Amino acid sequence: MTQEKPKDAAAPWSGRFNEPVAELVKRYTASVGFDRRLAEFDIECSVAHARMLHAAAILSAGDLAAIERGLVQIRDEIRSNTFEWSLDLEDVHMNIESRLTAMIGDAGKRLHTARSRNDQVATDVRLYLRAAIDEIVTLIRAAQHGLLELAGRHTDTIMPGFTHLQVAQPVSYGHHLMAYFEMLARDAQRLTDCRKRLNRLPLGAAALAGTTFPIDRMMVARELGFDGVCENSLDAVSDRDFAVEFCAAAALVMVHLSRFCEEVIIWMNPRFAFIDLADRFCTGSSMMPQKKNPDVPELIRGKTGRVNGHLIALLTLMKAQPLAYNKDNQEDKEPLFDTVDTLTASLRVFAELLGGITVNAEAMRRAALEGYATATDLADYLVKKGAPFREAHEAVAQAVRFAEGRGCDLAGLKLPDLQQFSPLIGDDVFAALTLEGALNARSHIGGTAPARVKQAIAKARKALS
Ligand code: ARG
Repeated sequence: MTQEKPKDAAAPWSGRFNEPVAELVKRYTASVGFDRRLAEFDIECSVAHARMLHAAAILSAGDLAAIERGLVQIRDEIRSNTFEWSLDLEDVHMNIESRLTAMIGDAGKRLHTARSRNDQVATDVRLYLRAAIDEIVTLIRAAQHGLLELAGRHTDTIMPGFTHLQVAQPVSYGHHLMAYFEMLARDAQRLTDCRKRLNRLPLGAAALAGTTFPIDRMMVARELGFDGVCENSLDAVSDRDFAVEFCAAAALVMVHLSRFCEEVIIWMNPRFAFIDLADRFCTGSSMMPQKKNPDVPELIRGKTGRVNGHLIALLTLMKAQPLAYNKDNQEDKEPLFDTVDTLTASLRVFAELLGGITVNAEAMRRAALEGYATATDLADYLVKKGAPFREAHEAVAQAVRFAEGRGCDLAGLKLPDLQQFSPLIGDDVFAALTLEGALNARSHIGGTAPARVKQAIAKARKALS
């Protein structure tokens, strides 16, 4: 970026001041270093505004044509990296306007009629975020496809389901994966919902109170693809609740990815050895030759902290601002941009990572057999034979202790051994104690029976397509 002051780059508002702004202050208050990222949206917004000014007979046809031509050229300069950004011009809006005026003269100076940077920036940020949400939802869908693909291959793979990270009950690995599918489905819904609320036009609010010109806000809204206009001018320029909502939804996506990654990290440890992660997602150690580190899932987990932090930053940014616009709001951009960047990069790598998982079904099964995972099934068996659940629970607890002493699983005990804990136990008990029996018995909606999981996957495939 050019930091020297171009000869003609006095700030558009400098007329009121007796001395130029201190260099230090200029650097401190300028946002062009980061808000130039909004440039294309700013141009889109200016074109729509100029067209409306012309339709409302505020701007001549000649001026409109010059503005449109000039803005297209500026867009090309920005795309080809030949645009000269100036810190003296503070932000993206004044950089573009100043270049436009240098190119087309007075017509450029008329563009800002009936508009303020306050409603302009609020509009730019909404346009930016709308596009970002569309991309993120597409990436979430891709990750969901990856989950479905893996789940489809593992409906009959049995693993121990955990509570408190202790073996609880056997579940299908496909079922486990589909839990994440559900989380991501809600994430996509939340973002789509947030998009609906943010898709309203602030422009026309001007600095805060509206404008004395006969503007047509509905026309601008239509041009820019908004569903309507912000109904209150003070609210339009001042609130960033849509950005907060977005960051909350984004933080949740990251939290969901992070939980999955945490499991990948634990499960690929040889103590678990449930899965392996392809080498392309791992790195070695510069010191310990034997190491294979799960860097990618660790980084997704780590970056979640940063995205969560951005949410808190935005909430804190808003909490003490009196109406209407305050310069504080300029601080909304960096957290927002970084949230979008971090989330899109993480989703991309996450979808790839799913394809790098190989499953060690044998290790999963062994772990499910080791942890008395079918103890609840034995209790349910006794209840079905007439025992009250609390008594059944107690009897099974004793049986587990006994089996532990013998160093075997419940299914490894002889019938007479089992019968000392309840006379209700018959030789049909062993069917209930197998892993397959335990899974198949949970065949209601949302249950882990492989047949159910297959149905859930088919339903999800349909919903995604
Ligand atoms: N760069 C500013 C922002 O991002 C644009 C609006 C400035 N408005 C003002 N009155 N200083 O919020």
